[in-house]
Amino acid sequence: MKELPDQQSTTSLVEGLGAIIMAAGLGKRMKSDLAKVLHNVAGRPMIHYVVDLAERLAAHGIAVVVGHQADAVRKVLESRPVPARGPRLTVVEQREQLGTGHAVLQARPVFQGRGKQPASHYLILNGDTPLLTEGTLRMLLDTHRTKGATVTLLSALLDDPTGYGRIVRASPESDNRSGGASEGIVERIVEDKDASPAERRIHEVNVGTYVVDGAFLFEALDRVKPLNAQGEFYLTDIVGIAADRGLSIAVATLRDSAEGLGINSRVQLAEAELEIQNRTRLRWMEEGVTIIAPSSTWIDATVAIGRDTILYPNVALEGATSIGRHCVIRANTRITDCQVGDHVEVMDHCVLRDSTMEDETSIGPFTHLRPGVVVRRKAKVGNFVEMKKTELGEGSKANHLSYLGDAVIGKNVNIGAGTITCNYDGQKKHRTVIGDHVFIGSDTQLVAPVKVGTGSLIAAGTTVTRDVPPDALAIGRAEQINKADWAARRRAMSEPERHAASGAGQAGAGPSPTSRPMPLASKGVKMSKRGKK
Ligand code: UD1
Ligand code: CA
Repeated sequence: MKELPDQQSTTSLVEGLGAIIMAAGLGKRMKSDLAKVLHNVAGRPMIHYVVDLAERLAAHGIAVVVGHQADAVRKVLESRPVPARGPRLTVVEQREQLGTGHAVLQARPVFQGRGKQPASHYLILNGDTPLLTEGTLRMLLDTHRTKGATVTLLSALLDDPTGYGRIVRASPESDNRSGGASEGIVERIVEDKDASPAERRIHEVNVGTYVVDGAFLFEALDRVKPLNAQGEFYLTDIVGIAADRGLSIAVATLRDSAEGLGINSRVQLAEAELEIQNRTRLRWMEEGVTIIAPSSTWIDATVAIGRDTILYPNVALEGATSIGRHCVIRANTRITDCQVGDHVEVMDHCVLRDSTMEDETSIGPFTHLRPGVVVRRKAKVGNFVEMKKTELGEGSKANHLSYLGDAVIGKNVNIGAGTITCNYDGQKKHRTVIGDHVFIGSDTQLVAPVKVGTGSLIAAGTTVTRDVPPDALAIGRAEQINKADWAARRRAMSEPERHAASGAGQAGAGPSPTSRPMPLASKGVKMSKRGKK
């Protein structure tokens, strides 16, 4: 796997910093059966983005608070690769979702208790803000340090602040939009649902990312009461508590407010997707990938692409896909969980899943690779070819209209047009093994299990039911009969004559008694009924 340039940490972990990530909510506004933090953004569950950030910053360890679908969220977290010298990640459960303040309190045993060295300060993150960047969080931490603050907030100035908590300052300026963040002393945060009409007009919002002094955090949370519109323990109330005690509250404001997007709805999910897509496309273009129509190209955050590869419009690269150098991926192709070598050409309209294409292979147009396909070097898979759990050997070709499943195909094999591996007997799947240098004629059926020996030749139209020895010719089809003048005589007949000659009125039936009309269905064999199969 090639490394993603953006994901290499450039700077070091912050000593004494603990991170707490809140990920226990269901996310009612998503109207989903899936916990909010498990929704994908650019092919990765949202929670990963936030944990990535904490992992690059918090030397003192990370606590992730889970609740809704705790097991599923835990599983996603456990699937993360453990970083070599990274911080320890602990998952804690919030059994009832009583609010963000209550959520953070659940992390207390991770950092406090016998034999534990408490963190000097905490970075607290909502699990639903995947667009934040490491640079922004370092800026937030710097503000906290240089201002000597007890609580430092990350704020954003939004044209439409609806839904966010507002930052209430002692001497609010008439219009927060002009002239950047207000300079008045922060008094508290008020949630949208609790805000007065005047407070609703404040455009400076709480992003939900905080740095809090270690000695203050849990002690202050013990004092938070659920006295608000939602009856919840608000984490944001610790701001008011700090202000009441005359402790210093600092604010760092986002330069790009889009980074602060909290995902509460499907609309916001789509906004986040677009932003991550834009960043990902930019990153790969900077790495030397040509993207002809960037806004139409969809690249998961988990994908790697080599330089001098060209992506045509409407390409989607998904999951654990890696594409080598000097590849061309033509329009309207989807590649999911595939390993693609160098100098590979994928023509238009392909669906490629969980497969490997080695160097200098050529795929498509209209190829469907299902899981478990290996296309060896210089091999070719052409139009309307479907493959599954099949290896196609070096230099071999399956150029047209085939189904190849559960097969191992050697080197320099030619698979003729219309070749089908009959791999399924209704109960079990069976294997087809084809040796090197085999020529499979067009319209061959290979009834598995069956072996075709090296160097052999299968005549077109053959149904192969027995193994073929090396270097043999296999031919299995009814012998052809040519009837002289038959077609001409039929043409010469009148319509009623032709009808009479054909008995049941079968099209294609012949003019002479030597060619008996084919019955529609033989005795005892019923024609399949319409709609029943
Ligand atoms: C929160 C902030 C709000 C801020 C906004 C930014 C509070 C009270 N409000 O509001 O000021 O503007 O984020 O996006 O904090 N969670 C739990 N347990 C709970 C409740 C929530 O773990 O009991 C988690 C959720 O999974 C989510 C995060 O906390 O990841 C934020 O919760 P959410 O309900 O989205 O808060 P907002 O109403 O958006
Ligand atoms: Ca939220």
